[in-house]
Amino acid sequence: MSTENKKQAAAEAALDYIQVGDVIGIGTGSTTNYFIDALAKIKGKIDGTVASSEASAKRLKHHGIHVLDLNSVPSLPIYIDGADEATQHRHLIKGGGGALTREKIVAGVSKKFVCIADDSKLVDILGTFPLPIEVIPMARSHVARQLVKHGGIPELREGFITDNGNLILDVHNMEILNPVEKERELNNIAGVVTVGIFALRPADVLILGKDSSLETIQ
Ligand code: A5P
Repeated sequence: MSTENKKQAAAEAALDYIQVGDVIGIGTGSTTNYFIDALAKIKGKIDGTVASSEASAKRLKHHGIHVLDLNSVPSLPIYIDGADEATQHRHLIKGGGGALTREKIVAGVSKKFVCIADDSKLVDILGTFPLPIEVIPMARSHVARQLVKHGGIPELREGFITDNGNLILDVHNMEILNPVEKERELNNIAGVVTVGIFALRPADVLILGKDSSLETIQ
């Protein structure tokens, strides 16, 4: 099965977690796009969505799916999103698409986080995928220097501005042995908006598309 087919299979399996009347948190990326397209077929059953990026909001609206402001929603029963890396413990690296801040907010508001991915995303240790970190523009050099002290090699994502008007540093060479501790540590650098480690609020369910089946880790 191709990688795209695996992503689509994982995305369609996530429909099983949707209940009638839900307002659904929606992530960002190619796997989530498959989920949005699948959701369009059952859009009459849900009460709406909250999107984690302008790109996802646009795709949802294109399908005629209602997109709500997060501030108008007290809580979300479920959040569906992809990942760049995931472990058996459901710790993730996210932010390859640059939407990590809004993704972390929507994940934090949601009761259940269902992560969908193809099986190439499953790793033993996070950090082969360069770790995205959203930073306030004026703090870019300061944050980069601090990341070097943490053993990373930060690289500015050229020509990219987040939906929040900030920059992304992609940090290479960051072996993340203790994701919870590393997320806290890097969050504490002044000027960091969001670290792409999702360990303090991990996924609750990880659905992986494999060659001829799906694997669900929960
Ligand atoms: C977006 O900022 C990311 O967190 C995505 O969820 C992640 O990059 C996964 O994207 P794909 O589904 O395109 O691999």
